[in-house]
Amino acid sequence: MLPYGHQSIDEGDIQAVVDVLRSDWLTTGPKVDEFEEAFAARVGAKYAVAFSSGTAALHGAAFSAGLKTGDEAITTPMTFAATANCVLYQGARPVFADVCPDTLNLDPDQAAKRVTSKTRAVLPVDYAGHPADLDPILALAERHGMIVIEDACHAVGAEYKERPTGGLAHMTVFSFHPVKHLTTGEGGMVTTDRADFAETLRRFRNHGISSDARQRQLAGSWLYDMVMLGFNYRLTDVACALGLSQLERLDANLARRREIAARYTAAFGDLPGVLAPSVRAAVNPAWHLYPIRLDLAQFNADRNHIFRALRAENIGVNVHYIPVHLHSYYRNQFGYRGGEYPIAEQAYEELISLPMFYGMNDQDVEDVIHAVKKVTSSFAI
Ligand SMILES: Cc1ncc(COP(=O)(O)O)c(C=O)c1O
Repeated sequence: MLPYGHQSIDEGDIQAVVDVLRSDWLTTGPKVDEFEEAFAARVGAKYAVAFSSGTAALHGAAFSAGLKTGDEAITTPMTFAATANCVLYQGARPVFADVCPDTLNLDPDQAAKRVTSKTRAVLPVDYAGHPADLDPILALAERHGMIVIEDACHAVGAEYKERPTGGLAHMTVFSFHPVKHLTTGEGGMVTTDRADFAETLRRFRNHGISSDARQRQLAGSWLYDMVMLGFNYRLTDVACALGLSQLERLDANLARRREIAARYTAAFGDLPGVLAPSVRAAVNPAWHLYPIRLDLAQFNADRNHIFRALRAENIGVNVHYIPVHLHSYYRNQFGYRGGEYPIAEQAYEELISLPMFYGMNDQDVEDVIHAVKKVTSSFAI
């Protein structure tokens, strides 16, 4: 089965990890600083703070934005649950706003309608690697004194109006899970231009303590002070060495994904019932996912039948995402019944993510195209 996503590990990555295993520092050593500095430079941000996962990074960002009980934060239902969960971790309430029909990213007009006197933050998501429309979201935030946390877990290396994702929102969050463009096993990062956010993020990931073990060793002191309540969300030196090595190949990874996306889009352009993902002018997506949408009126089967038929062809398709408000936890806590966010909910019924990763060869890509053509024509009305 060709998976929908897969890590790419080379000998350089393995050597980088082995070198750290032979060094003095397995965690919070020099590789963390090196990775953070290289990452910040790559995405055009002043600061980067590494976390043990994208989810931990989102939690750090929600904390640093000052979210607390009684506050609200607006986000999209078309995402992984972690985007909304980080708001709940802070005791605040996630408020969903529906998505744009073309990109399935948070619709700035819908977000504007959800603003109340309690709204403190907005969390747009760069779905599939296509940057959210940040300018109107930033303008909305400016008008209401809100913090924008961009969930760019799909979008390292993407560009919005010729500027790289990572330096545009007040804080931007990345994930280094193995299906992402660059992996550290588990891992994440928050980038920001604000020194106060960077300082809070560093403390939050280290129990709320004002210095880390290496800083104390370098200073020759045992003294430390816990100044706030934090967590152990540190990323290890082992992981950061892998991340640094992977970062060197990010451009090659992005280039290959863009080639695959172009080939898919050319093949599906005139295929009845299949809609390729749309790309807006002035963005350069990172193509974490390649989600096609089915025009179900043209088939005598639903998405689930077509999904299973593609799996039977050994194509490891997936579905991103079950809209967050439809998960049992959100239904039970907040009373959602379905029907609240019609654009996201309809898209969910039509979506299928095709395989998209650096290591796919040209034959893999052709196999996917062949299977999609075969299966969709077999269910065509
Ligand atoms: C949009 C989005 N946000 C957050 C996360 C959480 O990242 P992690 O798995 O690194 O905790 C993911 C992970 O898949 C994601 O896709």
